[in-house]
Amino acid sequence: MAILFACFATLVGHSIALNNGVGKVPPMGYDTFNAYGCDYNASSVLAQGEAMKRTGLVDAGYNIFILDDCYALKERNATGYMVADPKKFPNGIPALSKQMNDLGISLAAYGDNGYYTCAGYPGSYGHEMKDLETWHSWGMSYLKYDNCYIPADNITQENMFGRYTRMSDAIAAFAAKIHRPPFIFYLCEWGWQQPWIWGRRISQGWRIDGDIKPYWSAIASIIDQASFQYWASDFYGRNDMDILEVGNTGQGTPPGNLTYEESKTHFTAWALMKSPLIIGTDLTNATQETIDILGNRDLIKINQDPHVGESISPFRWGVNPDYVSNPDHPAEYWSGNSSYGVVFMIINSQNTEQTMFFNLTESWAIRAGRQYSVYDMWTHTYEGVAVWNLTFSLPPHGVRALLLNDAGPQPANLDGTCAFYYQCSV
Ligand code: GLA
Repeated sequence: MAILFACFATLVGHSIALNNGVGKVPPMGYDTFNAYGCDYNASSVLAQGEAMKRTGLVDAGYNIFILDDCYALKERNATGYMVADPKKFPNGIPALSKQMNDLGISLAAYGDNGYYTCAGYPGSYGHEMKDLETWHSWGMSYLKYDNCYIPADNITQENMFGRYTRMSDAIAAFAAKIHRPPFIFYLCEWGWQQPWIWGRRISQGWRIDGDIKPYWSAIASIIDQASFQYWASDFYGRNDMDILEVGNTGQGTPPGNLTYEESKTHFTAWALMKSPLIIGTDLTNATQETIDILGNRDLIKINQDPHVGESISPFRWGVNPDYVSNPDHPAEYWSGNSSYGVVFMIINSQNTEQTMFFNLTESWAIRAGRQYSVYDMWTHTYEGVAVWNLTFSLPPHGVRALLLNDAGPQPANLDGTCAFYYQCSV
């Protein structure tokens, strides 16, 4: 019996998916880090919440707000609990939580797998249950879990997977204790140890790279990285491409410099690759362009598709030979399935305007011998019917996001022909 139980425990411990019922589709919300770093407080959080509501972004689906690093005092209290910084949160975090709830937003937590957070605030190692209690008492049920100041190997005698399992186990135990659904759990170990392979066993998402920056080189490099890991994303577990930089042009030190086209490409890739959509800009003085990008309902609908959880995938790299990594020139030709049609994302990774061309049947999701109606997810218009292939020009670092739907057999004059002559006989 003991042996049988041990076998069962091993199997359970290594089940492929956590599948605890939470976090089916990507989270949408706000995180303080890109816009504020450590420099935020209750008023700035509330101002962002109100701006989210006013601009229609709450209605578009953005409904969590992550208090990232720096909300606590540097020392725990005598009983080992974290204490919210009273200067930043003079009325306490529960009061702020309530105000955010009234706007349709839930506060979400940030914690760290080690002794300290990345900015030197209390880490949760050895305090997992206490910190879950604290976050729960603040109205939170989502945790971003960072990886700074982790204990030495001989202390934990665990690798990355084992160290992160401590909090995952604590989340399960805490949920059982309070009879509530478990916290949604997002790992932030920057892709150090291939979390796309094991992250799904213990969490709903995992960062695949270091911290994003508001420059095209950073965006292109994350897309390049994701082009080799898109397969890991699906319902209940996904690659996290990091907090969005849309809106941060001219912000920060040195200032961000994404163009309008680059910002659209950034948002398109994050949405269609099923990344979390987490706003990271000051919405109180955002331009209408920023709000329109973040609020693109066509792309959000695919990101939140209740029936298809997969990411789009590259069918041709373009500038690079296929399957070759190049952070300056990520894969350019992508497609995938959705409940609303076949999705295409075409990116011009070059610094000059380019003509982009593809045969529809290069995508696995297209049926040969058919024609397709073409809907543009940025202009929000139907653009006629495509037969066999599409050609268009794109500005530097620009994007086209298309939804194709079957519009019947291809024209009769094409009967007996093949888009790829060598793939069928005539
Ligand atoms: C790390 C994370 C960031 C942010 C900071 C906070 O760098 O990757 O997303 O949470 O810590 O200090």
